[in-house]
Amino acid sequence: MANHLPATLPNGPAAEMLREEFNRWAQAGKGEEMEGSHLPIVLPALELMNLRPDDRVLDLGCGSGWLVRRLAGITPKGSVTGVDVSDEMIRRAQAASANVPNAQFLRGTAEKLPAPANAFTKVISVESAYYWHDPARGLREILRVLAPGGSVWVLINYYRDNPDCHQWEAHYKTPAHLLSAAEWQDLFANAGFRNVQARRIPDLSPTPEVYTGRWFRDAAQMKRFKAEGALLVLGAKP
Ligand SMILES: C[S@@+](CC[C@H](N)C(=O)[O-])C[C@H]1O[C@@H](n2cnc3c(N)ncnc32)[C@H](O)[C@@H]1O
Repeated sequence: MANHLPATLPNGPAAEMLREEFNRWAQAGKGEEMEGSHLPIVLPALELMNLRPDDRVLDLGCGSGWLVRRLAGITPKGSVTGVDVSDEMIRRAQAASANVPNAQFLRGTAEKLPAPANAFTKVISVESAYYWHDPARGLREILRVLAPGGSVWVLINYYRDNPDCHQWEAHYKTPAHLLSAAEWQDLFANAGFRNVQARRIPDLSPTPEVYTGRWFRDAAQMKRFKAEGALLVLGAKP
């Protein structure tokens, strides 16, 4: 689906910086690569979400759209909308989803979601929330677009309680929030969510004997990080 947001998003310079950075990620093919690295924490979260065939789902910070396409298969009587600040991510997601009738993609920000009130029954966001310029505002926006009784599920790999991700700060080109589980829970509760919980989702995928990337010191640190697990914060709209 085409979208007609202007080239400069309404959230100003912070959104523009995110757009430029994640356009670079998209052009480098990282949008597609993230499916492999995020799937081991996403699959257990999907199990917990108890998705129904008629759910109307928002994937916020959807990247290249791999999760939107997966969710669209689980919700054949519903719909899935992917929103992302990066127009290049959205362009690639649309191109790869032309044959998925119940999927649509919109360019926009967490802080000003391009959707009416009560539009969705479930919202998921994977490895995106700590980049948001204003997470409190993003969570209030999620509350607005969720229907009463709807739920939000946010997966976060960069959080204070896991020391084996703190070194990532040196690699980020845009500001990122390093919050604890308790701080995220407070943000959810202050935004108006009820039944707020924080859980851990360990990444059970095999770790290579030798690590050659730049995110971890070595394979041992990567292994510790994965065993500690991603933070899953969830809540419901009253
Ligand atoms: C690390 S990527 C994860 C992408 C996807 N969820 C996945 O798992 O493959 C983070 C994504 O969040 C998006 N993003 C960051 N800040 C955003 C904001 N304020 N509003 C909407 N999207 C945002 C980025 O453009 C990027 O595509």
